[in-house]
Amino acid sequence: MSNIPQGKRDSFGSSFGVFAAAVGSAVGLGNIWRFPYITGQNGGAAFLLVYLAIVLLIGIPLMLSELSIGRHAQKNPIGAFLQIAPGKPWFLIGIVGVAAAFMISSFYSTVAGWTLHYTYLSVLDKINTSNASELETLFNEFHTSQFMPLFWQFVFMLFTGLIVIAGVRDGIEKYTKILMPLLFIILIILSIRSVTLEGAKGGLEFLFYPDFSKIHSKTVLDALGQAFFSLSIGMGTLITYGSYIQKNANLSRISLQVALADSFVAILAGIAIFPAVFAFGIAPSSGPGLVFLTLPGIFEQMTGGYFFSILFFVLLVIAALTSSVSILEVVVAYLTEELKIKRKQATILATAGILVIGSLATLSFSTLKDAHIFSKTIFDFLDYVSANLMLPLGGFFIVIFVGWAYGKKFFSAEITNDGNLVVRLFPVFNLVIKYIAPIAIALVFLNELGILG
Ligand code: PHE
Repeated sequence: MSNIPQGKRDSFGSSFGVFAAAVGSAVGLGNIWRFPYITGQNGGAAFLLVYLAIVLLIGIPLMLSELSIGRHAQKNPIGAFLQIAPGKPWFLIGIVGVAAAFMISSFYSTVAGWTLHYTYLSVLDKINTSNASELETLFNEFHTSQFMPLFWQFVFMLFTGLIVIAGVRDGIEKYTKILMPLLFIILIILSIRSVTLEGAKGGLEFLFYPDFSKIHSKTVLDALGQAFFSLSIGMGTLITYGSYIQKNANLSRISLQVALADSFVAILAGIAIFPAVFAFGIAPSSGPGLVFLTLPGIFEQMTGGYFFSILFFVLLVIAALTSSVSILEVVVAYLTEELKIKRKQATILATAGILVIGSLATLSFSTLKDAHIFSKTIFDFLDYVSANLMLPLGGFFIVIFVGWAYGKKFFSAEITNDGNLVVRLFPVFNLVIKYIAPIAIALVFLNELGILG
C-alpha cells in the first residue's frame, strides 16, 4: 500500500494482473489437495460431472455477482452491503463471509503446513519411495505428531501475513503472474508420468467413466461445497478483489477465464493423482492425506524426480500462499475499513486469531483427535461447515441480492462497463442469477436436509 497516492484505493495494475490475482486466489490447495480427496470419497467421474455443472451454472454467475458488487461499492464485503443497502440486514452476508474466511484460513494453514513439510522432505530427498505402506507411515507419523505440523503452520501464516501487509498490488499480483503458469506446466508433466505408470488405467476410468448410481444428496452437497471453495466464492473474496479492479476491466471475461483455469487445474490434479492411486494400490477414499500419500510415489518413479518434487512442492506452497492471502485479505479489509484499524495491526491481529483456531485444527490429528463437534474432528468441522454450509449460504444470498434486491442499481452497468461493452451472454447471466442459481442452491440444501425425500 506504500506507494499509493493518498485518497486513492489500492488497485491491480493491469487487467492481466486482475486475472492473475483472481486465479491466484482460486487455484490452490482446493484444486490439488481438496478436489482429489473429495472426488475420491465420492466415487469419481459422476462427482466430477456434477461438479462441473455446478461451476458452470452457479459458480460463474456468482463470481460475476461478487465482482460487480465489489467494484461498484469499492469496499470490503461488509462495507459493500452497508453502502448499497444501508440500514438493511444484507451486511450479515459479509459477517458470515468474514467468519467463513477466518475458519477456512485456520484449517487451510494446517494443510499448507503439510505442504511446507513435504517441500522440506523433498529437499532432503526423504520421500523417495513408491511403496504404499511406507508412504502411509511417512504421512501418518508426520501429521499426527505435534510439533512439526504446528511449526510449519506458523511459518506459513507468517508468510501470508507478510504478503498481506505489503498490500494488494505489490504483494499478490507480482507472484501469481509468473508462478501460476509454471505450476500448470509441472502438473502436466506429472500427469504424463502418472498415466504411464503400470496399472494406471483404473485411475482414468475412476475419474472419467461415470457411474451415476454413486450420486446421492451428499455427493451433490460435496460438489457444491467444493466448487465454492475452489472458485473462492460465497464469502466475499471476490467482492474484496472486485473493489480493487479497475473500471475498464471486463468482469464477465475474467469470471469465465478464472472458472475455466481453475477447473482445468483441478482436472489435471485428478489426472496426476488417480492413476497413481490405482497403480500404487492406495484407497481413493483415503481422505485428506490422499495427495500426500500419492505424489511422492510418482516422483520416485520419474527421471529427475528429485528436482521435480522440490519444484512441485515449492509451487504448491506458493499457490496455497496466493489463496491464503486472498482469504486473509477479506478479514483485514474488514478490520481496516470498518473498524479503522491500521493495516499492519489488523493483519497481525487476524493472523494471531487464525493461528489460535488453526492450532486446534492441526492438533485435531494428534492431541485433540478425540475432541468432536457434532461428531466431527475440529479440522473436519471447520472444513465442512465453512465449505459446505457457509459458502453456499453466502452465495445464495449474494445471488438473491443481485437478482432480486439491489442488482438493478449497478449490475448491468458493471457488466457492460457503463454501456461500453457488449456482453452477449448478459441475458443468460441475468436468468441464471435470478432463477437458476438460487433454486439450485436451495434444492441442494433441502435435499441434503432430507426435506425432498
Ligand atoms: N480457492 C482456494 C483454493 O482452492 C481457497 C479459497 C477458498 C480461497 C475461499 C478464497 C476463498 O485453494
